[in-house]
Amino acid sequence: MSYAITMAKGFAPAAERNRQPILDVLRRVLPPAGLVLEIASGTGQHAIFFAEHLPKLQWQPTDTSSEALQSMGTWVDETKHENLLTPLELDVRYSPWPLVNADALVCINMIHISSWETTEALFHGASELLANGSPMITYGPYRLQGEHTAPSNAAFDQSLRSRNARWGVRDIDELLELGWRTGFTLEERVGMPANNMTLVWTRDA
Ligand SMILES: C[S@@+](CC[C@H](N)C(=O)[O-])C[C@H]1O[C@@H](n2cnc3c(N)ncnc32)[C@H](O)[C@@H]1O
Repeated sequence: MSYAITMAKGFAPAAERNRQPILDVLRRVLPPAGLVLEIASGTGQHAIFFAEHLPKLQWQPTDTSSEALQSMGTWVDETKHENLLTPLELDVRYSPWPLVNADALVCINMIHISSWETTEALFHGASELLANGSPMITYGPYRLQGEHTAPSNAAFDQSLRSRNARWGVRDIDELLELGWRTGFTLEERVGMPANNMTLVWTRDA
């Protein structure tokens, strides 16, 4: 991710562009009230926007990076939305997670910028956290049946893999199999701007 740093507060231009289309999906699929755990919140821009526009939900931002936690802490202090909780350190690979339950989980743009083991840990942790029927929403670029959905995604995949051989745009078929192993069903695949998708998963009963 490219951060433009202003003091400790990071700013990701992509988060400004995709926040409204993502919010439009969240409004439809999140429960009307309750606690949402956001994994990999990054700068914190999404957390602030979603907390402001979904005031009946408690929004818990988290990340593993100290730079991200510092950024979102600054945003949260400035914004003061009552439903926006103090950011927590959470690396999905290490259990126990700092929360034992939540009513929904949101994870934006982490699956392709981390190892496959990180995605496996995300699904395993989410299956322990969420009650049956609860949603997990993941957003990012994905491949479909082995194919990229656009040439720009293929180029992005190449650049990710050249930065870190364990990163890369994942195939939805691989995620379906992981969901099957960990108790998640893919309910909906929503096409988003810039060749991204929002995937809406449900914790199986
Ligand atoms: C591309 S940024 C996305 C940030 C934000 N969600 C957004 O869309 O602007 C990827 C984020 O994933 C986080 N991340 C990477 N590995 C992680 C892990 N194992 N557990 C939790 N977060 C992780 C990084 O620290 C980083 O903030």
